[in-house]
Amino acid sequence: MTGKFIVFEGIDGSGKTTQLKLLAEHLTGRGFPVRVTREPGGTRVGEQIRELLLNPQYSELVPMAEAFLYAAARAQHVAQVILPALTEGKVVLCDRFIDSSLAYQGFGRGMEVGLLEQVNLAAAGGLVPELVLILDFCREHGMDRLNRSGREIDRIEGEAGAFHRRVRSGFLTLAARDSRRYRVINACRPVGQVHQDIVKAAEEVLNAFSTGNNRA
Ligand code: TYD
Repeated sequence: MTGKFIVFEGIDGSGKTTQLKLLAEHLTGRGFPVRVTREPGGTRVGEQIRELLLNPQYSELVPMAEAFLYAAARAQHVAQVILPALTEGKVVLCDRFIDSSLAYQGFGRGMEVGLLEQVNLAAAGGLVPELVLILDFCREHGMDRLNRSGREIDRIEGEAGAFHRRVRSGFLTLAARDSRRYRVINACRPVGQVHQDIVKAAEEVLNAFSTGNNRA
């Protein structure tokens, strides 16, 4: 496998999707072959699972079923999209991955984090990102942004403030376990400043890559 796998994480409304797009443009401009993708989804099967997971109509979904559905979408996504792109030598930028399950289903819903790690490592065939960017954003601002965006709030976004606060601190706890692979980025700043920090972190990981022979 010759590509690099970079994941963006953070609470809803943290601005990670905007930042992912900016990094993709930056890296493409520098000549890197980039593949952008997201979870849950990224595949035909995954998009169906996404609909089940996010539609507020399915309020009866129990935490264990929710966790396995995210893991199922992930298994499909890794096999069908992420691994092939990495094998082709691409830089894969993924909007959410295993840490979202640990933060939302683990810290948020109170499921055992160790069990979720086992299930998801199996689902991902042991694939671990080279870099996880945690966009840290205060809940109030995140919800303000979502409310202003005018779109409907999904099943997970509709959870109480306390849930999202547990998710946010969960991400920080996960980051503190491994400072080499995780970078916490303060996302309560102007988009340009946040982008600069992300570029710096990504370039550290990609340095070895760009001096190799994988570059487009
Ligand atoms: P999405 O609309 O992609 O949210 P965002 O744009 O904030 O990433 O919806 C994904 C939702 O699913 C989001 O609320 C986080 C949640 N989620 C989990 O609870 N567990 C997971 O493993 C993943 C990937 C997402």
